[in-house]
This record gives sequence, C-alpha cells and structure tokens, in this order.
Amino acid sequence: MAAVGQQGIEGLEHVFPLGSRIDEAGRLEIGGCDAIELAERFGTPAYVYAEDDIRARARAYMESFRAHTEHFEVVYASKAFPCTAAYRLLAAEGLACDVASGGELYLALRGGFPPERIYMHGNNKSDDEIRMAVEAGVGHIVIDSFDELDRLERMAPGQGVLLRVTPGITPSTHAYIATGQVDSKFGFGLDDVPRAIDRIHNLDLRGLHAHLGSQIFDLAPYEKLAEVLTAIGDYPLLNLGGGLGIAYTADDRPPGIEDYAETLVRGTPDGVTVLCEPGRSLVGNAGVTLYRVGTIKEIPGVRTYVAVDGGMSDNLRPMLYGARYEAQIADRFGGDSLSTIAGKHCESSDMLVRDAKLAAPAIGDVLVTPATGAYGHAMANNYNGVPRPPVVFCADGDARLVLRRETYEDLTDRDV
Ligand code: LLP
Repeated sequence: MAAVGQQGIEGLEHVFPLGSRIDEAGRLEIGGCDAIELAERFGTPAYVYAEDDIRARARAYMESFRAHTEHFEVVYASKAFPCTAAYRLLAAEGLACDVASGGELYLALRGGFPPERIYMHGNNKSDDEIRMAVEAGVGHIVIDSFDELDRLERMAPGQGVLLRVTPGITPSTHAYIATGQVDSKFGFGLDDVPRAIDRIHNLDLRGLHAHLGSQIFDLAPYEKLAEVLTAIGDYPLLNLGGGLGIAYTADDRPPGIEDYAETLVRGTPDGVTVLCEPGRSLVGNAGVTLYRVGTIKEIPGVRTYVAVDGGMSDNLRPMLYGARYEAQIADRFGGDSLSTIAGKHCESSDMLVRDAKLAAPAIGDVLVTPATGAYGHAMANNYNGVPRPPVVFCADGDARLVLRRETYEDLTDRDV
C-alpha cells in the first residue's frame, strides 16, 4: 500500500505507519503528530499508533475479500493488540474478532464487539471461561480437544462451534510461533478429526479452523492448508487462521494483503464462507514506540550501548524470538553511528536492537522503533517494577490517550 507524504523515510516507508513523514524541520510525524511533542506530552516510553493505518489495513482486508467473494469474514486476532480502543475501531470497520482467553473476551465485549461476531479460542479453556462465553452469547467457540468437546456438550448445548485442526503443515517461521505442525499443543491431529466430529451431538458444528503460525512470508502453505481442510468434509465455514507476516526491517518484503486474501479465497470451495484471522498484519506496522535516550556507554573497539527508558517490559520480542527492529532518532533520521539499543532492565538480554545505525545519538534524544504495534503492548509486563507505557492514537494531527501509563500505585493496587 503506497502512502502519501512519506518523504524523508525512504527505504523505511513500509515499516512505519502509513502517512508517516519527516517534516520540514527533519522531525518524524506519525498520524500528523510530531513525535518529539508526543514524547513530551505523554512521556516515554509510549506506544503511538496511526489510527488511519489500522483502518486502511482493515479496509484492505475487507475489500480484498469482497473483490472475490461475498462469503467471507475477517476476524481480528485480538491477542496482537488487546486494547479496547482497537476493538472499538475494528468492530466499527465491520470485522469479527477472536479472543484467546476470558480476559480478551472481557476486553472485546468492553470494546463494543457484538458477541455474535466473537470467536473464542484456547487450548485449555476453563469452565469459567466457557461459561462466560456462553452467557455472553459468543457466536463461535473453537473446540481444541476431546476433553473440551465433552465439556461443551454438557455446558453449551446448541452452541456454534468450529473444530480446530492441526493440519501437519510446518510453515517457515520461528519455531515458537509455528502451530500447524503435528507436534503442537493445539487442536486435533488429522487422525483424530473424524473421531471428534462423530462425538459431536449437542453442538452446532459450523466448520473447521486451523492456524499455521505467525509472521509467515510464503503463501504456498495456505493453499496446502485449504486443500487439507476441504478434504475433511463440507461445512459452511472454513477458517484458515492468521499469520501473514509484516515488515519489521527495511529488508522485509512480506506478501500484500490482496495476494493473501486471494490465496485464501482460491482455496475455498464456492458457497463456503472463508474466514481469516489476521492480528499482526492489521496492527503491527500501525504502531511505533517512542523512547528517550538516558545514557550512552562506549566501549572502544567493542560496542556502543545507547540505553533507552524501556526495554523488555514493553517489547519482549527481541529476547523471546530474536526479532529484529529498526531504530531511528526521531528528529535526525539516517546516520551511521553503529549502536546497540539497550533497555533499562537489570538483565543483559535486555537489548531492543543490535547494530542500529543512528545519527550521532545523544542523551535526551527521542528514539523510535517502528512496527511495534502487534505483540508489544500485548506482551508488556512489569519486570523490575517498570510501569507499562500508555497507548496514544494519532489521526489528522490530533493525539488522544486511549490507555494511560501505569503508575507506581497500580503496582501495589492488588496487594491484600
Ligand atoms: N489465530 C490464531 C489461532 C492464533 O493463534 C494467532 C496467533 C493468530 C490467529 C494471529 O496471528 P498473526 O496474524 O498475528 O500472526 N507473540 C508472538 C506471536 C504469537 C502468535 C500467536 N497466535 C509474536 O510476538 O510474534
């Protein structure tokens, strides 16, 4: 998707939110808002989203499917960014949503998602979570195991369900985020599927579900997946999961939403409603994180550490998956000072970006890492008692706080 006004960030325009630009003074703008002013107004670290970027990608999904079929549903995989403002925005865009726990279900309902448009996932749903879903009137529960199937038969007669299939397809991605392979904690292996289907009597089996994994760049496994699932039987719904990759670094070139949608539709028999569950590819590039540089440690001939005021409490992905990110100084893009961006946590693994090239970083600079919109806030934590950052939505030059920063008082709020 080409965007207007992205001058000054050449080579990174596919990593930053749509509409981002460097203004005449050389300062980064997100959603029409000056990044340095945002850092001053909301403090750092802060998750900053361009609202129009999320909306544009949601529309790209809807329009890409609509171009090929009337029978589709785009299901927001809300684990990527479980924030009521995001639920509200995507519900308004006509998407459905998936939740992976009672907590996400609570957030989705509070974010205004109509329950009938919610899909409930989980490999180990508790009775309380199942009860909560049924009482809320959730449209579909995705059955993950025999035990859950039996419990649903007892607890939720008539409930709309999908059956989660483990298709035995291993996509090319990090092992921690691959789910389609035989050796997976999720779903029914192909050998067990017929037995599971036979065991359903009181539930309304509407279709099959599978999710290959995440951050996937190759679309061929989705064609294979559609083949495997349609061979199981005819059902009204076919949910091919999520997983479309995004660009984290300048070199990343993921397939477009249009091609992904077309691949899924092509694999789905006529008359069957095709579902997909994008998370990362809806919200990942919409968000950036703003930090402030606090100290710089130069070890001559070894490395320069540029330390920022966040780290593994606001972005766990580099430590967990070896994920790579870009970093820039918000009012001096470019440069060639080789820097390792360190966090403020009391642990050596707390490195956000290795070998970033910055323009002569200095203490007090605002540093930005793009593409943190998915699984950043979602996996934020309080390691070292660091309060979690706020979420700010920007559009047309207006910034609004949608989630405030945690306070120290929040850290003791649950003490008994
Ligand atoms: N559907 C199901 C059943 C899933 O388990 C997931 C992701 C999705 C959809 C959405 O996948 P996406 O389109 O966002 O790739 N924390 C990891 C990602 C774990 C994803 C888990 N499931 C990360 O930061 O990369």
